[in-house]
Order: sequence, then structure tokens, then C-alpha cells
Amino acid sequence: MKDSTYAANATPVPPAATGMRKGLTSYGDSGFSLFLRKAFIKGAGFTDSALDRPVIGIANTGSAYNPCHGNMPQLIEAVKRGIMLAGGLPMDFPTISLHESFATPTSMYLRNLMSIDTEEMIRAQPMDAVVLIGGCDKTVPAQLMGAASANIPSIVLITGSMLTGSHRSERVGACTDCRRYWGKYRADEVDDAEIAEVNNQLVASVGTCSVMGTASTMACIAEALGMTVPGGASPPAVTADRIRVAEETGALAVKIAHERLTIDKVLTAKSFENAMRVLLAIGGSTNGIVHLTAIGGRLGFDIDLKALDRMGRDTPVLLDLKPSGQHYMEDFHHAGGMATLLRELKPLLHLDALTVSGRTLGEEIDAAGAGFRQDVIRSRDNPIYPQGGIAVLQGNLAPGGAIIKQSAADPKLMEHEGRAVVFENAADLATRIDRDDLDVTADDIIVLKNIGPKGAPGMPEAGYIPIPKKLARAGVKDIVRISDGRMSGTAFGTIVLHVVPESAMGGPLAYVQNGDRIRLSVANREIALLISDEELARRAAKKPVVIPTASRGYHKLFLQTVTQADQGVDFDFLRGTEPRGAIPKM
Ligand code: FES
Repeated sequence: MKDSTYAANATPVPPAATGMRKGLTSYGDSGFSLFLRKAFIKGAGFTDSALDRPVIGIANTGSAYNPCHGNMPQLIEAVKRGIMLAGGLPMDFPTISLHESFATPTSMYLRNLMSIDTEEMIRAQPMDAVVLIGGCDKTVPAQLMGAASANIPSIVLITGSMLTGSHRSERVGACTDCRRYWGKYRADEVDDAEIAEVNNQLVASVGTCSVMGTASTMACIAEALGMTVPGGASPPAVTADRIRVAEETGALAVKIAHERLTIDKVLTAKSFENAMRVLLAIGGSTNGIVHLTAIGGRLGFDIDLKALDRMGRDTPVLLDLKPSGQHYMEDFHHAGGMATLLRELKPLLHLDALTVSGRTLGEEIDAAGAGFRQDVIRSRDNPIYPQGGIAVLQGNLAPGGAIIKQSAADPKLMEHEGRAVVFENAADLATRIDRDDLDVTADDIIVLKNIGPKGAPGMPEAGYIPIPKKLARAGVKDIVRISDGRMSGTAFGTIVLHVVPESAMGGPLAYVQNGDRIRLSVANREIALLISDEELARRAAKKPVVIPTASRGYHKLFLQTVTQADQGVDFDFLRGTEPRGAIPKM
């Protein structure tokens, strides 16, 4: 007698199949496809009753090359526990993992590849919901981009921040203090022996960078978007709180699978606006804008940078974390984490935005209770910076816009006119920046070309141009710097980034010459090259740029399809096909 479980004619597999019946491999006989699938998975010792449960995929981004994800085995164990306690079947699967220091030329070059990997593995394998475990800078954006395109019930689990270390009784953590100590070393304030000691202390455990860099920013953004369990952003990687969050995440994944709460129901215009508020209020990484733009683009949303800037004018920076402030992520967690911040931001948020918990953001804030005295998250009437951390600049040097992290800039340099000192690319910079005969003063403006999406390629975090050694030795701590690249969220300084169009595409930045005058006015949101339009056109006609190309492989795909910073540096063919309007809607 035939077992009706497999007989295709007796039990045709419905189009909205779930669990192990979902997304069958094509053999032309769906009954046989299911029969074969179950035969193979039973080879791993599963029973029919286990295989009848909702299947929850777990995107495993553990890698020996990624210490920011060094707690992955413990997290997966806890997620699986949560899934099984809630009646689901956990199935973990590997995807690409990216670490900032182990990806050349830059992790950003590979973010879109990771997003494709995530999207296609979610599509290809049977799962009713997916837990996305990420942490290091590009991993959470890549996973959200991929999941947004795959559009199944999805939940984010952050790996969590590292602990801080101690150098000669001073608290230190990656990577603001990495840069600060390296600056001291370059200025001969710290010797070889001490910098080696510091190197042992900057990363005191596994986990993501301990300041408000891109990883912490994306963790906060993920929670603000409603994509994590409440309180999922802040617990450090090696704490019991983080493991509990992992177990809760697993249990919630089963719930959203039953409810078919697809990611597009959570990632709405309102949730993106909430995430932008949070980005501004935490003094978050400038990379957060690029990633939010890319995630939004997958759903057909356009991030309106001018509206974001207007939003910034009434969103103070409340979080006192490095590099804008003093504290570290573990302090943020002890101060109540995102619940404390969101409570303070409440009047500025869309409280009716849905979260993966099935409750609204407002309901989650209320459920978190009244709060307590602490000194890490300020009140709105006593901010650490009166406006949002990021300002959007316009002008003839950046017709498509540029940004500056004003909360991490030197106030004295935010209204500044100076002489351009130009470097043609990263190699030119490396060769000349520290030469004693470099013609540069502290009043000049350093311009670095060709580190944009196509130029480098991958828009590396080389926008944090080092202070020329001769100036560093003289005690100069900041100088205005401009590029079409990005900078790490852990960096600080008066640094204009994301110039659009980039110089490799023939943007005006390509035609800046040594000695040109440039004006930066953050108050007027202006970045201007003080030459006439006619002169700019004359220079462009005299030396047209050659747009980079490659002959094969991923490099070719990247250069042919990558978009500019204002489009999220995503591949053009990955964008959502149904336009859903601009956000924020102001
Ligand atoms: Fe992974 Fe900083 S290097 S979060």
C-alpha cells in the first residue's frame, strides 16, 4: 500500500507549503521530491515527528576569521533551545561571514555578495522563518538586505559587543581607542613597547566593537526597526543576558513562523523613520545611512537625505558613547539599553510601528517599565549634542550630497575655508602623507579621490585620512578632510564623506587641484569648491575620467552594477521593483 505522505497524486503539495514540504527540489514529481528529502534528512537521525514541525532556519555566520562572531556556537545552541521549547525544528546553515579586518580590499566590497548568499539560501532551503545571526559591521545590513528580498518571517539576533580592556588602568576598547593610540604612536607620544601593550588590551573578548561604531549602530537600528526581541541590541557577547536573548529569539522565530509575519510587515516606512531617529540620537555611524538606504531600497523605499537632515535638526544626540561621548556598549546595556533611549525619544517616534514580537514599538517601550537613574543616556533637555549626529551637505563639490558626523567633529573646524591638499588615490596618500616635505598646514583641507564605490573599489573606510605626521608631531589633532569614501563609525574628526558623484565617475571631486579653495559650512550644510562652473567644465573637458572596469568575475559584476552612496552602494539589479516612495515622509 502506498504511503499517502509521498503519493503526489493523493496529496499534491500545495503552493503555500510549509516546513519540510516547502520549496521542493525539482524532479518533476513533488511526492518523490519530498520522499527523497526526508530520506536524506533522516540520515541525520531525525524522526517524522521532528520533521513535521515548523522549520526555523538559523543563518550561521561563525568563522575563524570573524572573532566578532566568536560566540556563535553558544548563540546557536541557545537559539535552538528556544526554537525547540516553542515547538519548532531548528536548522542552522552557513553563509558568508565578514570581518572588518579580514576582508580585502574592504568588507563593503563583499556586503552585497553576502546579501545575495543570504537571500538565495533562505529561498533555496525549506524554512518557515529565519533567525539571522550577525554582528560585525556589514553582516547585519547584508542579512537584512537579503531577508528583505526573500521576504519570509525573519528575526535578527545580534552577536553582542566585546568587553572593554584596561591599559595602565585606563579603560580601552576597539576601535576608537585603537585609532587614538595609533595617533599617539604616529605623533611619537607612545613608544613601540607601549603600543604593543595596548594591542593586547583593545579587544578584551569576542564580540563586536565596544563603542558606537557601525556594528553597535546596526544593532540599535535593528532593534529600532522592530527586527529583534525587545532589548536585543545591547547585551555584550559573553553575558548571560546575550544567551537569554538568543533563546527568546528562537522562541519568537517559531511564533512569527506560525503567524506568517513576513519581514515586509515589520520593515515599513514608519519603522525606517524610527531607525533614522535612533541613528541620529545615538550619534551613530555614518555607515548606518548607507546600509539603511540599501535595506530600504530592497523594499522599494528611497531614503531622502535632505529630509533626514531636517529630521536631524530636531533630534539631539542622547547617547554618551565613544566616539561622540565617553562610555562603551556595556555601559549602554547597564543603563537599560534601547528601552531607556526609546523612552526618551518617544515623542519623536512612530509608536504604532509593528515589531517582530507582534506588539508595537510603543507597547514594547511601555512594557519595559519606568526606567532608573543612569548617566549614559541623556534626557532630551540635556543632550550631549543638540542636533542629530549626522549632517547632510550639498554644494558644487557634491551635487548628489555628502555627509559629516558633526557630533564627532571639532566645532572650530565646522565653519572653515582652506586650501586643498590633494591626493589622487589611496596609494598616493600612503606614499606622500607622512613626508616631511609635504606642503600642508593645519588650516588646509585634505582631499582624497578615488575611494568611492567604483574607485577603490568598494568604498573603503579610508575617509579617516590620517593627520600628516609633521602636523601630528606638532600637536594637531584634527584637520578638515574630504573624500568619496566612508569612515569607520569608531573614528572621529571633521571629515566629509560619501561625496556623490564619486571622483571615479567624473564627479567634481575628480577635478579638485592642489591650491584650490574649499569652503565647509556645516551650519549652512554647504561643501563648495570655490572655482567657477566654467573652470570646472574646462578641467573636465581637458582630462575626462576613465570609469573603472574589470574583465571577469565578481569584480566585473561589482563595477558594472554598484550604485553610488546615496543609493546604498547596492547592486542596481537587487533593488525592489515596486517603488514605495521616499522616507522620511516630512
Ligand atoms: Fe567587527 Fe568592529 S571589527 S564590529
